[in-house]
Amino acid sequence: MIGEKKKCIGLIFGGYSNEHEVSISSAKTVFHAFNSEINKKRFTVKVFYIDKYGDWLDCDLSEKILIGKTEIKITKKQENFSKEKINFLDGIEFQNIDVWFPLLHGLYGEDGSIHGLLKYTKKPLVGCGIIGSALGMDKILMKSIFSNLKIPQVNYLAFQDEDLNDKKVKNRIISKILENLNFPVFVKPSNSGSSLGISKVKKKSEIPQALDKAWKIDPRFLVEEGLEVREIECGIIGNSKLLTSEIGEVIYESDWYDYDSKYNLDNKIIIPAEIDSKITKQIKKIAIQSCKALNIFGFARVDFFLEKSSNKILLNEINTIPGFTTKSMFPMLWKASGLNIEQLVAKLVEISLDL
Ligand SMILES: Nc1ncnc2c1ncn2[C@@H]1O[C@H](COP(=O)(O)OP(=O)(O)O)[C@@H](O)[C@H]1O
Ligand SMILES: [Mg+2]
Repeated sequence: MIGEKKKCIGLIFGGYSNEHEVSISSAKTVFHAFNSEINKKRFTVKVFYIDKYGDWLDCDLSEKILIGKTEIKITKKQENFSKEKINFLDGIEFQNIDVWFPLLHGLYGEDGSIHGLLKYTKKPLVGCGIIGSALGMDKILMKSIFSNLKIPQVNYLAFQDEDLNDKKVKNRIISKILENLNFPVFVKPSNSGSSLGISKVKKKSEIPQALDKAWKIDPRFLVEEGLEVREIECGIIGNSKLLTSEIGEVIYESDWYDYDSKYNLDNKIIIPAEIDSKITKQIKKIAIQSCKALNIFGFARVDFFLEKSSNKILLNEINTIPGFTTKSMFPMLWKASGLNIEQLVAKLVEISLDL
């Protein structure tokens, strides 16, 4: 807009998380969108790369890493960029930043930690606050809130404070799974993402290994009854008034939507999903209801299962920092809803500024 002062966006990416690489891919998309012809007139972008050890690098080096001019060659803790590293709270010139755009997927970011840290800068950010982020990240807490609201979900068991090194404990957990759930079951860390740490288990003998895999990522984990489902996703943007995007369906070749099928294999994305208009309406309603319940605003992607045999809608999860990679559903959903990626990132900034 003519005469409007350019807004400086602080784009934060990378992070001390098992979704580090996904974050880099997401940040590339968003960086290019802010630097498009149309957005260059309104925005400048400063980028902040957090390496795999949680250290912040300076903006110039971060940008080189993002656009691929410098390789990320950190192999050991001692070898990282000691000179260019910054101590966030001491060194960073965040006075120039008008709006933060944290694109850190998973732990040490999407779980609310970055939102808490940025709160001290007293600058707005794209996304929700500490509570919504933490609840959206933690599958056990998220599900217990949905249960209270009687939002339909798959049957599940939650475990915490369990020592899986103790054989008796493990056997007790296995018995509980066998008593309460039907195979296949999905074993999941309570806090993870991109399907990392998740196993689909088809028989009893596979349970111990799946438990260990989840437990390594998070000592709090859950086991869900696995259903034959279609995977349906809905985008959300807004503050007090949340808007829903078109509904999308992802169809993949693999047995389930694991890391490889999310990022390395070809999937079919269908927008709008070919589902009954009554179900679409119901999905949008639950998407808004569930975000409100968890105090999630700004942007989010709400993921559903549609059980193939019954056409029953089941809420799976809410992602509070949805992916922006070239294969990600969130930007595609909004494109189909009338906002291309350039318009979408600009809109997210406007939302964060309550414009
Ligand atoms: N109860 C379930 N029934 C059927 N498929 C499931 C179930 N739970 C998970 N999955 C499969 O695993 C994928 C990842 O699970 P999800 O809970 O969404 O974890 P993440 O947060 O890592 O995306 C889902 O998209 C789906 O393909
Ligand atoms: Mg998921």
